[in-house]
Amino acid sequence: MLVGLVSMSAASASDVEVLHWWTAGGEAAALNVLKEDLQGQGINWNDMPVAGGGGESAMTVLRARVTSGNAPTAVQMLGFDILDWAGQGALADLNAVAAKEGWDEVVPQALQAFAKHDGKWVSAPVNVHSTNWVWANKSVLDANGIDVPATWEEFEAALAKLSEAGVTPIAHGGQPWQDATVFDAIAMSTGGPEFYKAAFVDLDEEALGSDTMVEAFRRMEVIRANVDDNFSGRDWNLATAMVANGEAAFQLMGDWAKGEFLNAGLVPGSDFLCFRFPGTQDQVTFNADQFALFDQGGDVSAEQAALASAILSPSFQSAFNVVKGSAPARTDVSDEAFDVCGKQAIADLANAASTGNLYGSMAHGHAAPASVKNAMYDVITAHFNGVFDAETAAAELVDAVSIAK
Ligand code: GAL
Repeated sequence: MLVGLVSMSAASASDVEVLHWWTAGGEAAALNVLKEDLQGQGINWNDMPVAGGGGESAMTVLRARVTSGNAPTAVQMLGFDILDWAGQGALADLNAVAAKEGWDEVVPQALQAFAKHDGKWVSAPVNVHSTNWVWANKSVLDANGIDVPATWEEFEAALAKLSEAGVTPIAHGGQPWQDATVFDAIAMSTGGPEFYKAAFVDLDEEALGSDTMVEAFRRMEVIRANVDDNFSGRDWNLATAMVANGEAAFQLMGDWAKGEFLNAGLVPGSDFLCFRFPGTQDQVTFNADQFALFDQGGDVSAEQAALASAILSPSFQSAFNVVKGSAPARTDVSDEAFDVCGKQAIADLANAASTGNLYGSMAHGHAAPASVKNAMYDVITAHFNGVFDAETAAAELVDAVSIAK
């Protein structure tokens, strides 16, 4: 009874309770930009962090909260998960604030496809991340005479050289979502954009079971052969730290990794390098973090509208994304405040969008619904850990997807 009273008085009308998985140093620093913005407007931030990159654990906690009739005010969410909750009628209607602020004109179509459901805005896009990046320790590359590799073959040669020199070539965290993040880039590089779309978006059986897919799995075996012995279960930000402190040369990871390098005081271009995964220089496999606003029983609340409006404001979009490592979720934000990697992210995104080279990330819920994504995770991770060879993995992928979809 006492506990009930205490928690009721803690959640006043001007609170927002925000469920998210931004618990790594760089992520928390970026989130602070939003917290401070709202606190400046007299809105109290009730933090509900659920650790776990990629957000799988956060989504499990969310389901439990909604089932018990206690949905948070706002929830960090990706792609198809947003459409799924919207389809269940769980999300608030943001059309009034969106119309007032002209979101339709400034948010890229690729994001609107996930932020709107049945003509209604249901979530506020925060950023555009992408998964086909490589992060490198510059001194390690220089010491070993390695240039930024432009092709898979050059990348393989660099890995072999590092390995011979006794350096861990790749810092990797063996968690399903991280294995899948690497696979996003490998599949795009191996088969190109048509193959990526056919396999991961259209879920075409022929593409899923093709020789190209077998080759993509073979290349994953090359990655596996170039990680250290302790990769299993490692969090992504610890893998980033290995590159930051020179224990490893490369990490294949989305651009939230940049937030970690920056948070450690490192400078892009001189301490660390960012480049597109070899063979995907023209493509962008994106994931956009959004805050989905849960229907609190009636109209969108004043606090929810204030949160959505703060997120979409151009000044916030610049300030937040400079720290987070992502590109803004609006097309009209200047790249002036962004560093060299941020400027590249913004330019790559615009080019990819205008040349038909922008695709949703399979690993981060922007290519297919969660059931299919999780089925793919299982096969990719089992193969990475040696349960299947490449041929078997491609065949398993066909089966797993056909059961899940
Ligand atoms: C992604 C998310 C990023 C970053 C990453 C690691 O799914 O979009 O913002 O948080 O997980 O936690």
